[in-house]
Amino acid sequence: MTMDLKDKKIVLGLSGGVACYKAAELCRALTREGASVQVVMTEAATHFITAVTMQALSGNPVHTDQWDTRIANNMAHIDLTRGADAILVAPCSADFMRKLAHGACDDLLSTLCLARPRAVPLLVAPAMNVEMWQNPATQRNLAQLRADGVAIFGPAAGEQACGEVGLGRMLEPLDLLEELIAAFQPKLLAGRRVLITAGPTFEAIDPVRGITNLSSGKMGYAIARAAREAGADVTLVSGPTALPTPHGVRRTDVQSAQQMHDAVMAAVGGQHVFIGVAAVADWRVVNASDQKMKKQEDGAAPVLQFEQNADILACVAATTSLSGWPYCVGFAAETENLVEYGAIKREKKGIPLLVGNIGHHTFGQDDNTVILFDETGHTVLPRADKLTLARQLISEIAKRLEQRSLLK
Ligand code: C5P
Repeated sequence: MTMDLKDKKIVLGLSGGVACYKAAELCRALTREGASVQVVMTEAATHFITAVTMQALSGNPVHTDQWDTRIANNMAHIDLTRGADAILVAPCSADFMRKLAHGACDDLLSTLCLARPRAVPLLVAPAMNVEMWQNPATQRNLAQLRADGVAIFGPAAGEQACGEVGLGRMLEPLDLLEELIAAFQPKLLAGRRVLITAGPTFEAIDPVRGITNLSSGKMGYAIARAAREAGADVTLVSGPTALPTPHGVRRTDVQSAQQMHDAVMAAVGGQHVFIGVAAVADWRVVNASDQKMKKQEDGAAPVLQFEQNADILACVAATTSLSGWPYCVGFAAETENLVEYGAIKREKKGIPLLVGNIGHHTFGQDDNTVILFDETGHTVLPRADKLTLARQLISEIAKRLEQRSLLK
């Protein structure tokens, strides 16, 4: 929990759709991240979920009526958005998209959207049947909303409550939470393409056994998320992990170092940044068995032969020398003399930036302390959770890309 929405005031609008049930979970996720949530529901939304549920989860009175005479000045449509950090309409029905696209103001939620100050971003999460979504009328409204600067989250494709399958499902609450948090992050890598490796590799011994390491993938996944938040187009090549893919990140799964190498080399063309975070096996087993190896009667142990794997980072860095791209960032986990070894490793790998993990105990942990090595020396990023460090690293990379383009 990074409390990324601490002190943020969010107006959560619900319009009519069965996805209202997901808004309850979303509301909880927002408050858990520290947001203060003010729920406003259309009349249609109250047919799908009660205002009492949203009141209990937000801890605030819920507004459902434009004509509420208990509000002294009857100016809820103004008061609710003054001081708000964002309005998120989730679910946003096809009809509510129509209203927003046309500037309608015939209920409290549409009126407050229209009356919001320009600085308050309007974010919507469409939710509707696939045919409704694909209908040219909805697509026209969508284009209008985009042109008006409204951020559109989703929709996702999949099975729908009506039984049909296709685009139109509201994003899951945690994906919406990630989108909202991302909306508040500076777009330091807008227009940039970033390729990242993460996790361990798995080198097979036989069809059911192999050699791997303790990398959890958490740091690489956090960096992928931070790069996406910063506006980059992100590709993640991942060894086996149990982690969910950060929202909006393209992910290719691999097992062995060889597969990781091939996936990276296939994707590296046109990338602006390559960040090698994966703990890649240095060796692969060359005499792996096609069948499961059996225990021997005489107790003899198998004899494994190894061959060195290609250094993926070095291969990518070699392509950089031709075109100047991508900007390469490596990681190093040393158990001793990190300051000395880190500087040497950066030179040896031929990369502009190397991130040193202090100790190898970082594997699987949620926190980390790192040292950045570049041509000017080294800087410590003090202990923090991996997402915070990932955001700092992205900002350091963006700064260096900026300097490079100024030098050209
Ligand atoms: O040399 P060492 O393994 O310590 O270097 C670590 C860095 O090199 C990490 O960025 C890691 O992702 C990358 N690496 C690689 N391919 C290998 C070995 C390491 O890309 N075969």
